[in-house]
Amino acid sequence: MIGDTVVRSDPPSPAARPGTLPRLPHWPHQDHPSRTAPGASRRRGSRTRRRGSSGPSGQRRRTAIGHTDRVTASLDGKVAVVTGASSGIGRAIALLFAQEGAQVVVADLHPSPREGGRPTCDAIADAGGVARFVGTDLADPAAIERLVSTVVDAHGSIDVLVNNAATFVGKPLLETSLEEWDRVFAVNLRAVFLLTKLVVGQMLGQPAHAGVRGRIVNISSQHGMLAAPGDVSYGTSKSGVVYITRQVAADYAGRGIICNAVAPGKIVTGTSPADHDDERLAWSRARTPFPRLGEPADVARAALFLAGDDATFISGVNLLVDGGWTAS
Ligand SMILES: NC(=O)c1ccc[n+]([C@@H]2O[C@H](COP(=O)([O-])OP(=O)(O)OC[C@H]3O[C@@H](n4cnc5c(N)ncnc54)[C@H](O)[C@@H]3O)[C@@H](O)[C@H]2O)c1
Repeated sequence: MIGDTVVRSDPPSPAARPGTLPRLPHWPHQDHPSRTAPGASRRRGSRTRRRGSSGPSGQRRRTAIGHTDRVTASLDGKVAVVTGASSGIGRAIALLFAQEGAQVVVADLHPSPREGGRPTCDAIADAGGVARFVGTDLADPAAIERLVSTVVDAHGSIDVLVNNAATFVGKPLLETSLEEWDRVFAVNLRAVFLLTKLVVGQMLGQPAHAGVRGRIVNISSQHGMLAAPGDVSYGTSKSGVVYITRQVAADYAGRGIICNAVAPGKIVTGTSPADHDDERLAWSRARTPFPRLGEPADVARAALFLAGDDATFISGVNLLVDGGWTAS
């Protein structure tokens, strides 16, 4: 284990703006007037009421147009482990989950975002949430075991696991060495297998709520279905992520484990070499029917849906968040 730091909001730092998490671009509820107002308390244990409703956590009400409407933060009180949450898409997922009431465990090699800025846990704590950094090299099976035992010892349960961390070498078949192939598979697929195995074991011992003991969200890729040009190990590992998602869903749905995946298309994080290569960006734009490329927040919203109780009777899906890339 590289380190284990819990960062919590109680008491908030002087720089904190209680009631707000650092907003993601196009925050889902940014324009909603009844959403937590700036300055309102957003401490652990408090609940975010929506649309003026009140009621216990998880309660729903019937609206005038006949839809049920959530009245509390969708992950209120849940413990969520997000791998690779120091940077990019994982960071956006961690921030959004914390905004929605989760206690977030950031499992990453380093606490600092690759793209710069405040460490994810500090940003969450500043905004009144609860987060813990557990330094973890997912290529190391012993570190994965320590991650799970650390989280269970500290939080007592794991309600949501997001397998997000990944690596790549960016080489075609003839140029990829065995060591490179093994390294990519150790992080992108073996770690998903090992961590999911331990977490599912933990979840099966937890009580079920509405038939669900725990939810797993794997971050795959459009390159899990389509070839990843010039990157044989990455694309093949991502196809494995899509497959293990279905396998876990099928094998454990009967025991209350929900397992889904989100497949991003081209998401601009600012750290990928492709984000600074005009030719590759132009290629991604040409492949993406949407008039823009993706943002980490696009993937985070999809992950939140699959991690929360709004996703009912859904397991084994690989939800494409690719602006239509795969459809075209
Ligand atoms: N960005 C895109 O365009 C895109 C497209 C499709 C799929 N994805 C997938 O989304 C996920 C996140 O991608 P991203 O672009 O945000 O990546 P990123 O490189 O910005 O962030 C990855 C994070 O994972 C961490 N990490 C890497 N190796 C690790 C290890 N061995 N142990 C622990 N942590 C490790 C890094 O430190 C980093 O914080 C990945 O699964 C990736 O395959 C991304």
